[in-house]
Amino acid sequence: MEAKTKKLLDDALNQIEKAKTKQELFLINTKFLGKNGSLSELMKELKNVPAEEKPKMGAVLNECRQKIDGLIREKTKKMEEDELNQKLMSEDCDVTIPVKLDNLGTLHPITQTEQLLMEFFVKRGFTVRAGTDVETDYYCFEALNVPKNHPARDMQDTFYITDDILLRTHTSATQIHTLEKYAPPIKMFSLGQTYRVDEIDATHSPIFHQFEILVVDENVSMADLKGTLEDFVKFLFGEKTKVRLRPSYFPFTEPSVEADASCPKCGGKGCPLCKDTGWIELLGCGMVNPVILENHNINTNKYSGYALGAGIERLTMIRYGVSDLRELYENNVNLLKQLK
Ligand code: DAH
Repeated sequence: MEAKTKKLLDDALNQIEKAKTKQELFLINTKFLGKNGSLSELMKELKNVPAEEKPKMGAVLNECRQKIDGLIREKTKKMEEDELNQKLMSEDCDVTIPVKLDNLGTLHPITQTEQLLMEFFVKRGFTVRAGTDVETDYYCFEALNVPKNHPARDMQDTFYITDDILLRTHTSATQIHTLEKYAPPIKMFSLGQTYRVDEIDATHSPIFHQFEILVVDENVSMADLKGTLEDFVKFLFGEKTKVRLRPSYFPFTEPSVEADASCPKCGGKGCPLCKDTGWIELLGCGMVNPVILENHNINTNKYSGYALGAGIERLTMIRYGVSDLRELYENNVNLLKQLK
């Protein structure tokens, strides 16, 4: 049996050596090592070998299998490498031909606005802070001076997970997280998804995006807020854009204002985008209600703050003159292509 094994091995080595293609090697593998291959046949004879010789013969057969298998693998690998090298040598590659960029995608318009906002505020020394979509009633309402039975909650009905855990209705919740963790001076920027129980229409969606800023420092006044707003609308909508403030009410600011921008499309003359008023409602803002600062042990004789929160869809629609919010979500490639 030993002689048979030796012959089998010699045969195999001989054939492997002569093989010129991977296909031939594959066939040699099947012929010798396959389930019905010659080595398997030889294995069957092991049962006739005297018991004391079995371990030795077993080892010889195994060694033979390993040797054949190893050589076949080695030669196959070498052939693959040669093939690849030959292919590379024979292919001309002109690295100076311009790349075709016809079908290159773009960032979604909402993401583009988010990046612009982030760029604007980070350059002015704001720190970006992440918030969470799932919030507790405390951070979303209570700590922002909106107690349980406050009428301001009506406009911000949301999706409740439990009585106490909900999907945040605004990014203002990040103001409280920031005040809990950091002492003034504070310049915080945050953005993300927000949720409300709203039917989808041209200006509403149950999921939308907001950004928020909070500034707390010495000598912060309404003038700082207005200056920031003016810079920011010019950056977003163009140098000629003006800002108008109107009195408003938010429980977390005192005084509260709503900011409008002069319509970037018609320059204030009146057009369908601004509903012929020349102005477009932009966002809510104000001086941080001192109660909130005091609740976080901030001395309001020394420090004051302003805050601002805005819908990113709205800013995006104004930037591109899109009149229906749903256009932004429908993945209409023809439309998205135009919004670069
Ligand atoms: N959170 C408000 C909303 O979603 C917007 C807002 C108003 C944010 C005034 C503020 C603020 O930071 O000071 O309607």
